[in-house]
Amino acid sequence: VAAQRERFIASVHDAATVPTEPRRTSRAPRPSQGPGFRNLPDTDPAVADNRRWAAALLATAPSEPLAAPATSIAEVDAAVARAASVAQSWGATPPARRAEILRQASAALDAARGDLVRAMAHEAGKTVGEADPEVSEAADFAAYYADRAAELADGTDPLARFRPDGVTLVTPPWNFPVAIPIGGALAALAAGSPAILKPAPQTPRCASVAVDAVRSALAVSGVDPDVLQLLQVAEDEVGRHLVTHADIARVVLTGSIETARLFAGWRPDRDVLAETSGKNALVVTPSADLDLAVADAVRSAFGHAGQKCSAASLLILVGSAGRSPRLRRQLADAVSSLAVGAATALGTTMGPLVEPAQGKLLRALTTLDPGEQWLVEPRRLDQDGRRWTPGVKHGVSPGSFFHVTECFGPVLGVMRVGTLDEAIAVQNATAFGLTGGLHSLDPDEIEHWLEHVEVGNAYVNRHITGAVVQRQSFGGWKASVVGPGAKAGGPGYVAQLGTWADAPDLP
Ligand code: ALA
Repeated sequence: VAAQRERFIASVHDAATVPTEPRRTSRAPRPSQGPGFRNLPDTDPAVADNRRWAAALLATAPSEPLAAPATSIAEVDAAVARAASVAQSWGATPPARRAEILRQASAALDAARGDLVRAMAHEAGKTVGEADPEVSEAADFAAYYADRAAELADGTDPLARFRPDGVTLVTPPWNFPVAIPIGGALAALAAGSPAILKPAPQTPRCASVAVDAVRSALAVSGVDPDVLQLLQVAEDEVGRHLVTHADIARVVLTGSIETARLFAGWRPDRDVLAETSGKNALVVTPSADLDLAVADAVRSAFGHAGQKCSAASLLILVGSAGRSPRLRRQLADAVSSLAVGAATALGTTMGPLVEPAQGKLLRALTTLDPGEQWLVEPRRLDQDGRRWTPGVKHGVSPGSFFHVTECFGPVLGVMRVGTLDEAIAVQNATAFGLTGGLHSLDPDEIEHWLEHVEVGNAYVNRHITGAVVQRQSFGGWKASVVGPGAKAGGPGYVAQLGTWADAPDLP
């Protein structure tokens, strides 16, 4: 098997379309197997070779051919039938073998890093600084879920009586167009279910490049390619036919709360798992390292132009932190100096919106409610409304539109409160509970906040986006989650994609 993997990795490198130089990273690479889990290192931009590598791959547009979308109900039925026809054999493949294949998929995704970064930059407006870690995350999901699949093989573990769900439909969003689709699909494969991946209509190429990489690993192992199918469908009656198909046993959605409600209504038998929206806040107390707090707030709010379910949308300043002229000046300077431009230019730190600003986001970018003022006023840079400079509004009031509404774009609201308890109350006073952060150097404050904050992912003295597989498994609370809620990249995620003969407790 080891020799086969070596040959496989060599063949993937031979076939690479991007002229890569060796990537030099700041951390040691993950061993191919062994105890413990090590995350794959990102490409280190401090290394000149790596910057040349990135510049070379961004200079050319993606050229991989794209499959035509399925336009008829008959095409959907045929794809589901193909998946159903391999469900028995894939489910009967020993979990240790599935794990080995997923590890090969992880290597294939890493080998396709250049193609994936290029697709994300061109199609999803992701800068290299955002896209490169997303490739690591996708490859990490593959390796981490391989380990979870391997656990299913232990005959002494009640999970060994695990029965996979069967054909699983994965419907990801456009904002993480590689890691989320691959994470969902490979979790299903790890569990022993065939997966059908319906990419977001905005980012079919990203999904296609990623699926090609995984399928190359399946092919090396002689696995039927129908175990993982990419099926582009329009979000019309053909899409609804797919989501409601009787032979789809499970739907895994990452998307807006509106889509989650729609899917749950279409499939009232509760087999929809969803991670949905967020309205996420970062709290800063007077004890915080303010320099770090500003840097983390800017990164959390404006990475991928704020188009992340995990993004910081509110900065809640406690007591004297809210009166600090230095914090205010640093925040304004840092936001104003973000390099706004095309994601395909290496120096860009904030790319364009995937879709023109409209609705709630347009209101947030153009309207001040009573008590609000611009600290940094956003400017529209083009006609269609996809390119904006980032904005910061302060004076956001509890209960206002901006306090409770997910706007999903490059605008941060600042609120000032008197105490940490008031900050927690404001932070918890939304329907959602996805991510949240605290910047404080006071252990009592940290403990108190962790005790009371209602979010799935609570970060202390760190930016609040970019959860790292296994170390910060990712998921929501309250309206941010539908289903049992095991977190992606965490111990129970694969285990929730099936049932047990004796129904032991979920890990
Ligand atoms: N997993 C993504 C993040 O943590 C959404 O930012």
